[in-house]
Amino acid sequence: MTDHEKDLHEDARQDEEVSEETAVATAEDAALDEMEDDYAWAEAPKFEIEHKEDCVCEVQVTIPASNIKAMLDEVYEEVNDGVQVPGFRRGKAPRKLLEKRLGKYARSTVAERLAEHASKRLVKEHNLVPIAKADVERGQAMYSSCAICHGEQGEGGHLMNAPKLKGLPASQVASLLKVYRKGTEMGQYSYAMIPQATHLSDADINNLAAYIADIDKLRDDVSEGAGDDGDQPAM
Ligand code: HEC
Repeated sequence: MTDHEKDLHEDARQDEEVSEETAVATAEDAALDEMEDDYAWAEAPKFEIEHKEDCVCEVQVTIPASNIKAMLDEVYEEVNDGVQVPGFRRGKAPRKLLEKRLGKYARSTVAERLAEHASKRLVKEHNLVPIAKADVERGQAMYSSCAICHGEQGEGGHLMNAPKLKGLPASQVASLLKVYRKGTEMGQYSYAMIPQATHLSDADINNLAAYIADIDKLRDDVSEGAGDDGDQPAM
């Protein structure tokens, strides 16, 4: 049985406002990251596994809402430490204000992190490896959390002096993200960027890089559904 013969569709059914598209796990999420799920779940996720053809299962993942609340608190704490809101000292901005400005970012980050933890747990508990095609659509979905600072089209300068990303080749975006992921300071504002990269898997980085590299072309195509085939442009 080769990897290509295996397929697994992971459907994340969420109890709360977390969007579904950002909660799909990829093979690399599980395979390349550490396999252990050391995440302290408030309440364990439930997996309903339905065996289909040989080597193919469909898994429904239910993530109890209590986890979403705990993870949201964690994300807001991080954001508060990393973002300077005008009029407040760093770390002192009220949660309500952060929710208003960064709610979308916080929710998508929570969805991604919980999906990743859940996929590790799935691998460990059931010996299943989730496989999904890496694609720019996923890159686009993830990019919504980057747009807050880097701009909808990667034009830069929205928050925290975030640099322009448009025009960077995919290979460069990917290697820069890997440097931030390691926690390496590059510029004056790295403290804002490092937490954004810490939780990205290699697959996430490739998807994001593929999307960013063609951001002006893909932005419209993908939202119109033209990127349906899931192919990743060559880097
Ligand atoms: C909180 C605001 C913020 C968010 C959200 C954010 N970034 Fe950044 N990003 C920055 C800042 C600020 C820098 C410059 C950091 C420095 O000075 O080293 C940066 C730098 C980068 C760079 C390096 C660009 C260069 O030319 O050096 C890349 C690539 C990048 N970000 C990609 C992303 C991606 C992809 C996401 C979403 C997963 C993201 N960023 C989310 C603020 C942010």
